[in-house]
This record gives sequence, structure tokens and C-alpha cells, in this order.
Amino acid sequence: MPRYLVTSALPYANGPIHFGHVIGAYLPADVYVRYRRMRGDDTLFVCGTDEHGVAITINAEATGVGYREFVDRWHRVIGDTLAAFGIQFDTPFSGTNRCRHHERISQRFFKNLHENGYLLQKTERQWYCEKDAMFLADRYLEGTCPFCGAENARGDECKKCGQWIDALALKNPHCKLCGTTPVVRETAHWYLDLPKLHADGVGEWFEGKNPRREHVEWKPNVRSFVGNMLADLHPRPITRDLRWGVPLPTPFTEEGKVLYVWFDAPIGYCSITQEVLEERARRKGETIEDNAWLDWWAPKNPSDVRLIHFIGKDNIGFHTIVFPSMSFGQGDRFGHPVVMPWAVPAMEFYNLQGRKFSTSDGWTIDPIEFLKRYPNVDAARFTLLSTSPETADSEFTFEDFQRVNNRDLADNLGNLLSRALRFAKDKLDGVVDRRDPTEAERALYAEVTPQIHAWAQALEKFEIRNACSALVAIGRATNRYFDACAPWSAIKSDRVAAERCIDWTTRCLGIIGILAEPFLPNAARAIRESVGIGGIDLRQAVDELLARSQVTAAEIGFRVGEVPILFQKIDDKTIAAEVAALRERAAASAKTTTKNMTENVPAAASQPAAPTPAAAPTPAAPAAAAGKPEITIDDFAKVELRVGTVVVAERVPKADKLLRLEVDLGTEKRQVLSGIALKYAPEQLVGKRVVVVCNLAPRTMRGLESRGMILAADDGSGPVIVSPTADVSPGATVK
Ligand code: 2FM
Ligand code: ZN
Repeated sequence: MPRYLVTSALPYANGPIHFGHVIGAYLPADVYVRYRRMRGDDTLFVCGTDEHGVAITINAEATGVGYREFVDRWHRVIGDTLAAFGIQFDTPFSGTNRCRHHERISQRFFKNLHENGYLLQKTERQWYCEKDAMFLADRYLEGTCPFCGAENARGDECKKCGQWIDALALKNPHCKLCGTTPVVRETAHWYLDLPKLHADGVGEWFEGKNPRREHVEWKPNVRSFVGNMLADLHPRPITRDLRWGVPLPTPFTEEGKVLYVWFDAPIGYCSITQEVLEERARRKGETIEDNAWLDWWAPKNPSDVRLIHFIGKDNIGFHTIVFPSMSFGQGDRFGHPVVMPWAVPAMEFYNLQGRKFSTSDGWTIDPIEFLKRYPNVDAARFTLLSTSPETADSEFTFEDFQRVNNRDLADNLGNLLSRALRFAKDKLDGVVDRRDPTEAERALYAEVTPQIHAWAQALEKFEIRNACSALVAIGRATNRYFDACAPWSAIKSDRVAAERCIDWTTRCLGIIGILAEPFLPNAARAIRESVGIGGIDLRQAVDELLARSQVTAAEIGFRVGEVPILFQKIDDKTIAAEVAALRERAAASAKTTTKNMTENVPAAASQPAAPTPAAAPTPAAPAAAAGKPEITIDDFAKVELRVGTVVVAERVPKADKLLRLEVDLGTEKRQVLSGIALKYAPEQLVGKRVVVVCNLAPRTMRGLESRGMILAADDGSGPVIVSPTADVSPGATVK
């Protein structure tokens, strides 16, 4: 039987995490691990924080605290947040700086790659600060953008015009630490030879052609991402000029150089495994060798261990190409080959009420505060799980939270439990006896049985949304059965029929109490206890359910105890207040000024002027709303604003900033040109709702006619499309 080695992407100890992170890499992994353990599989669940890298040093310096103190702080917050969601990693939830094995194992990976001929050294020219005596990583450089002339461009990109910058092309560079002008010096960096590793076997593994290193079929998002990456594979630098991170091993050690954070972070999975095994041993009063982690990471037979990486979309390349290449490149130097991923169930992006989560814009929900207001963590878990971005981007909305909580959980499960048990208490002397099935019970089981199998099959394939749906479907079928039996009226003439109804309803509740365990661990336990199977062995129960759709017969037939309230309903007012509060937080933190139509009319225009395409990025400071002549409501009413759906989006040849959109306005389709190409890729826009100024005089740009303009907000860092926050039909008026 294979063992399961499950990892969740190590979150940067660099700030708070939000729902998008929780559903991206942690909650689905927790569900999967709980499921595996219910199936009796030996499973390890490893995570901790990613504590190195220049983003952390920059933020720690800005905060004025030491690096270790800074990462300790976020390590605690992140660990607490994940624990509050009931995510149960094997302990310790460690981190790449705090794990005492991390440096040793990371250095060993580097040396093995070197010895196996998979590292290259390249000399390059780089800015060097003589005062700080160090080469300057891109983010430690500031200067004038060679493209737009903005003065505070970073060494790698200009925030103003959005262009990527080659650090050496930066004008008037200065060191962010001390402000002095750096000089160009030669420096040598190490590169991972990805093309060679690919040719030597990583490619064969990825294509599924190596029977000793199997993997499940890649998800389409994984395959297409990696396909693009493979088309342009080149050696990747794995060292950085920084004083925070894992030093290079001897004899390669060099003052001021460390391993690149993306080299050491995934090795954190290995080093934290060692800590987890140590803690397990300690609890048993045993000690283990320093290389015990190899039992999981380099087993004699590589297919003994199934390595599964739960990650978000932006980590795909690192987990399907870079880290597997690093592992493959170890050869047999750890005794046996290092395991390669068996599955990478990567999620897409998760948004919040129609927009990207953004802590700096206030468009976020503090998960800890949220759980204080809605302490039933199962409801939050189930909402995230049943709206998760498994196959496409998706979003959290308070309306969905209310729907899932009220309809799928409170009505469908909680209410069913209390109706059945209260009836048993009030009318059946609190005892539920077994009764043989009739046609109705056989029909009920004919509905429930396929859902039990659907639940297991979905979880085997990491399709957690489908597994949630199977659970909800069992609840629905049982509710229909209960309502059709109508025990409250049956009891008047046929007590046995009423007893049978309660017996079979509680049997199905028992099934729900077992299958809900991975998603709703608290409610699941409460349900099991309420229907008399509190002490059941979950592993055996699932086996029985899959074999016979039954829970051990002897366990059924019980005396009803307390009837728990599993889920409290949430009313419309509360949800409306949440949405309003979110908007207020965003407005309070927004420096953003919504660009309105008049802003696009040149100030000197005394006659109707041709519009500028919406929100063409401008290096100028954001136009202030104040300072424009007052208008009357009648002036405003002259503007026809309508909601439209983008149906086609494509670049305009030779126009960097322009996109050609076709927008469905309900009754007609229009071509609109918009200056948003630096901020949005065409494929991001198809399907998006936008607001169109419909009665704007047509204008021709680059030989294409633009009939209207789409609204966007701009604070000087590029346009952000204005979109309705709920689903509104195309053609709807905006006023
Ligand atoms: O994207 C991130 O948050 C990274 N810290 C993930 C690292 S995953 C692993 F390699 F450690
Ligand atoms: Zn300096």
C-alpha cells in the first residue's frame, strides 16, 4: 500500500493570509489528508512558513525589526490562522529559518546537484554598493525608469509604466539602503541546468513515460502552464546576493550570497519532514537518525510514496518543473532516487466579491476576525470548499456564504437532524429502533448509495467540490424522504411507519456524519454522537459504506440525547452589513479616484471632444475629483452608462496599450477600444462585466472605430476596470 506525503505550499512569513490562501493550498490538503486517514493510509502532512527571500528583508527593514523577529511574528499569525480553520498539519508547523535541519539538507541538495553536473556558473555584471559592501538585488536598487522617466523605479520594474527593467539599464541608480551610487562589478552566480535535467529524465517523467515514477494525469491548468514553460526552458539562477537565507555550502560559500529562496523553500518540505518524524519519535520516547526523512523522500522503491503538492496557481512551475528537477538531479546520492510529485492539485485564483483580494486596498477579510463573528468554522470551511477555484477562478461572496450556511448546512443537515431527533424524543420515547425497509427506504438508498461512491471517487481525484455536492445530495434525498413519510401525521395511524422513518432518516444522518468528517469535522462528530455512532471507527465505517452502504448494524438503535443546533442561520441584514463594511474599508484605504467621463475630455475643449480610450495609463498623478466645475443631475443624466459583457478581447497590432473589445450590451454588440493592455491580458477580460459609456461620439484609432468607452479607475498605477459587484444582466443602466 502506498504511503501519502502531502505538502501545502509554505506561505511566506511576510504578511497575513486571506481566504484565497486558505482555499488555495491548505484547506483542500487538510480535507484530503483527513480522507486518506479515514481510508487507513499512512499519511504525513507537512507545512511551515517560507522565511527567506528579498521580499521579507525589504519588509522587515521597512518595519524596523530584525529579520528573524519579523518572520517569527508572521509565522505566529499564519499558524494561528490556519489552526483556526481546523487545518491540522503534522506538528511542528515549522519554517525554513527555524527548522534546524534546513540549512544542512538544502546545502546537501546543492552539493549533490553540483557533483552530478547539473549546476552551471555564470559571471554577470551587477550593481555593487561599496558602502554596504554587497551586490544589490534588484529590489535594493532604485533609479530613474529608462522608459518613462519616473524617478522611483525599482531595479526590476517600474511601478509607473509597468515595464520590466534590466537593472543595468536603470538611470541614476542608488542603493536603497544607504542612498549612494553603486558601481558595476562582475559577480558569479550558480544556475540549475534545467534543459539538461529535462533531457536526462525530468521530461520523460512529466510526460508520464517513466513507470517507476508515476503521476496522476495533470490537471489541464498544470499541463498548459508547464507546456509553455517547457517551450522556453533555460538554466535558472539559484543563488542571490543577500544576507538572509541559506548560505552556500563549502567550498562554494561566499560572503553576501545565499541560496535563492525558491531553491531552499521546497527543500523545506524535506527538512520539516525530519522535524515531524522527530516529534513523533519523541512522543514515543524514541530518538531517530538525522536522515530519517529519507524514509519518506528517498524510499527504496519510489512508488512506495505518493508525493502530493497542494499549491496555488502561481506556484505551478516550481512544483512541476523546478523542484522535481532538483529532486531528479540528486540521482542516488541520498541512497535512492528522491520522490517526484505524484499529483499537483493546483488551484486557480480566488477573488472576493468580484475583485482580487488586496490587503493594501482594504479589499480583504481578516480571517481571524471573520471567525470571531461567525465562530462555526465548519460553515466557513464548507463555503470555501464548495466555491473553490478547482477548475477556474472563483470567488468568495457573503451571499454565497449565507446560501451555503443557510441552505446546504442549516436547512439541509442541521434542521434534518433536529427534526428527526426531536420527533424521536417527543413521540417515540427517545428511542430509535431498527425497522425493516419498505419500497420507500429502498428508493432512498438507491439515491444515497451512488453518492457515497461519488464522494469517495471525487476525493480520490482531488475534486473536493464534487465531494461536497455528494454530501449535500445525501442530505437533500433524506429530507425528501422524511417529508414524504411525514412521520408527524403517520404517527397518528401507524406508529411503526413513523418509527421506520426516524430509523432510516437517522441511518442516513449517520452516513452524513461519517462522510462529512473531512469537510465539517465538528458538525460531523456532533451528528455521529447524536445518532448513536459516536464511537465508530471511521476507517471501518467508510469501508462498510463503500461495500454495503451500511454502517455497522449493531451501532444503530439508540437512545436520543441532547439535540444539538449545528448551524445558526445568517439573515439578509447581516450579509448586507458585511458587504457594506467591506466597501467602506476599501473606500477608506483607497487612494483611488474613479475616472469619470468628463476627465477624459481635454480641459480646453469648448465643444464636444473626442474621448481618450478609457483609462490609458498615464504617468501623470491621478486626476483629483475636486476642481472640476459642478454639474447638475441633468448634466449627469446626459451620459448613458450601461453594463456590458466582454465577449471578445484582443490586442491591437502596434499599439502597446490598446485592446479591441467586443461588448455585449444585451440588445447589441459594440466594438470599443480601451487603453488597458498594459494591465490586462485579453483572456482575463472575456466574460467580464464592464460599464460602458454608450452615447459617446464614435472615434477612430489605429483604423478601428471605437463606439463608446469602458470605465476604469486609475490612481496613477494603471487602469482598473469598474465592474458591478453582483451579477447584473447586460444592458442594465448604471446611474
Ligand atoms: O508563493 C508562496 O507563498 C511561496 N512561499 C510558496 C513556497 S512553496 C514551497 F516551495 F515552499
Ligand atoms: Zn548602500
